[in-house]
Amino acid sequence: MSKRKNMTTTAGAPISDNQNSLTAGARGPLLMQDYQLLEKLAHQNRERIPERVVHAKGWGAHGTFTVTHDISKYTRAKIFSEVGKKTPMIARFSTVAGEQGAADAERDVRGFALKFYTEEGNWDMVGNNTPVFFVRDPLKFPDFIHTQKRHPRTNLRSPTAMWDFWSLSPESLHQVTILMSDRGLPVAPMYMNGYGSHTYSFWNEDGERFWIKFHFKTKQGHKHYTNEEAAKIIGESRETYQEELFGTIEHGEFPRWTVNVQVMPEADAEKTPYNPFDLTKVWPHGDYPLIEVGEMELNRNADNYFAEIEQAAFSPSNVVPGIGFSPDKMLQARIFSYADAHRHRLGTHYEALPINAPKSAVNHYHKDGAMRFFRNDTGNPDAYYEPNSVNGPVEDQSYREPPYRISGDADRYDHREGNDDYSQPRALFNLFDAGEKERLFSNIAAAMQGVPEEIVQRQLGHFFKIDPAYAEGVAAKLGTSVSEGATAA
Ligand code: NDP
Ligand code: HEM
Repeated sequence: MSKRKNMTTTAGAPISDNQNSLTAGARGPLLMQDYQLLEKLAHQNRERIPERVVHAKGWGAHGTFTVTHDISKYTRAKIFSEVGKKTPMIARFSTVAGEQGAADAERDVRGFALKFYTEEGNWDMVGNNTPVFFVRDPLKFPDFIHTQKRHPRTNLRSPTAMWDFWSLSPESLHQVTILMSDRGLPVAPMYMNGYGSHTYSFWNEDGERFWIKFHFKTKQGHKHYTNEEAAKIIGESRETYQEELFGTIEHGEFPRWTVNVQVMPEADAEKTPYNPFDLTKVWPHGDYPLIEVGEMELNRNADNYFAEIEQAAFSPSNVVPGIGFSPDKMLQARIFSYADAHRHRLGTHYEALPINAPKSAVNHYHKDGAMRFFRNDTGNPDAYYEPNSVNGPVEDQSYREPPYRISGDADRYDHREGNDDYSQPRALFNLFDAGEKERLFSNIAAAMQGVPEEIVQRQLGHFFKIDPAYAEGVAAKLGTSVSEGATAA
């Protein structure tokens, strides 16, 4: 057997005794000079970093993306350049509202965050398991999240706050209906779809732009818990997602998703009856069918959860040549918010952490800062400003994105004006069979326990506009009826 490595201090000095503190006499007290003990306690005090402000509880794994169909006419992104091409990636799934110790099998939207290590930098697809979202203006995102987190006085989650906000924000109806349906409580990450949700864009070698949406369809099939099943499961284990995802991959069974895009020609955005940049809306498949692109497979567990999953930093701002943004206001705000969150949670140089570091070259002129433990001066100590005549890295106009067409007067436009918040939830409601509808009604009624009648009625009024049967179904489960005032609203 080879000799085991010597244990050392963080400064590399060998440690002779890791069992007994340094004391004056066998019965103590301790000596201040026991720097090994001080270092150990000090490090323990710093083991935790802030948890993510949302999506704190998560599970992830490494994987591979493989191109199965050619879409290079839409995008010059290297990741899609040829059929058969493989790109390494990492995925992190999460619940939104629960803290790091929350039970996995809770009814909530699931995060579906992916980082693809492409030849031209990291592309992050930070989506959810739902194609839409609760709000369409980022000014409302912190308010919405406050209603999902703990009440400042009781320190408990507040159904009253949730339904007060939702009933005053009809744009939430589509997402609320998905959340309260069967798909609001998947059995494990491999049994759910993922969606980019926002409209993004592709641009090709000819400088043409297309609006697109990403869809990741589970190949394991959809599996869900009812509320009753989840309550039982949580009583037995709070870590069912970690157990199932980690265990499945460890046993050599690799979860897979087909990767699809919807493509909208740039000019169509003016013609659709809905705003194609509104995050509360889908693009009907009948109008924009799914185009298959590839397959994503998760095939390797992290060796160190903290280093590879907790420190993973995803951001919608991480795009690569050939993939771009859209006017979606929510997406625009997220382009700021994530990198800001990472600088706070992980530190200035979070992109240099091994799990976040691109596998392609990184050459920039950002300087110094706390914990700059890596060398990023491009190997030339004189190239620390730009332009320079010392052969430092330079821009390359061949990566220039085609012009992004925008227009309009700057104003605070009422995002509710002329917006139909009911038709698409109605299309979804009509997809549900009788059993799914019953469970939808029960799940909503269960989530409304203790909510004042005035708020309940306001929400029933919205359900009524989707379909009277929706409102009446929920009301029956609540033991109330839909008031005339509610339907008139
Ligand atoms: P389609 O019938 O063409 O598509 C229905 C979509 O809904 C499929 O993506 C399907 O996903 C998904 N779906 C099926 N059953 C359920 C369910 N019980 N709960 C949640 N999702 C389900 O219709 P449209 O494209 O016209 O969309 C109709 C409605 O379907 C929309 O208003 C929206 O609520 C919902 N939807 C639409 C999506 C889209 O991008 N168009 C995406 C997801 C949902 P799967 O194939 O995985 O079963
Ligand atoms: C996490 C902000 C909307 C998906 C986060 C985090 C912030 C944030 C600050 C924590 C980041 C971290 O500390 O690592 C916002 C804002 C939004 C918004 C400001 C709207 C304006 C959305 C939407 C989606 C989404 C619409 C999905 C379509 C996620 C996911 C994570 C996350 C998946 C967890 C990523 C991970 O696994 O690390 N969000 N978010 N968010 N958000 Fe959002």
